Amino acid sequence: MKVVAIVGSIRKESYNLKLAKFIQTRYQERFELEILNVRDLPFYDQDIENDPPVVVKEFKSKVANADAVLWVTPEYNGTIPGVLGNVIDWLSRVDKVMIGKPSWIMGASMGHLGTVKAQLHLREILFALGISSPLLPGNEVYVGAVHEKIDKEGTLTHEPTVQFLDTVVDNFITWFNHHNR
Ligand code: FNR
Repeated sequence: MKVVAIVGSIRKESYNLKLAKFIQTRYQERFELEILNVRDLPFYDQDIENDPPVVVKEFKSKVANADAVLWVTPEYNGTIPGVLGNVIDWLSRVDKVMIGKPSWIMGASMGHLGTVKAQLHLREILFALGISSPLLPGNEVYVGAVHEKIDKEGTLTHEPTVQFLDTVVDNFITWFNHHNR
């Protein structure tokens, strides 16, 4: 299975990027995870949506060719960051590559609620888009106080969180296989 991760943070030391990389390494025998580059995407612009820059075409093509999308989002001001909204705008238009694409969501923050509000909004956006993106039900991964749960190398050291991730990955694969029968 080939999964692409879309991380809603472009900062170098992003905890959400570290979480995506941790998943990429820990579950490499279960699925291939490519973390997409959101930094180089320009702002969505309806004037160029039919013939966007190559970087947008390549990004959309990677999503189109993936079996599933993993969204890993920070929370900014009680919602998803602008960079993530920008990605969704591009994906939602013209060739609508998210149609029928299974996806799942997780997120990390230094606060204790671990991106609850951002993820609720993201679920609603993906649902309301009318792009029929099937979302893994339940399995809500809110990694709160992430700075206390991850070491400098980006390894999740908080065993209960790691065990929960193991369960979520199992559930995702079961759900994905059921969805694709
Ligand atoms: C934040 N942060 C934050 N945290 C949170 O739990 N709820 C929130 O609403 C916000 N709002 C917010 C706005 C802005 C503009 C910034 C820069 C930050 C803190 C945020 O969780 C923290 O910076 C994370 O480390 C961001 O994720 P990455 O970049 O580490 O992946």
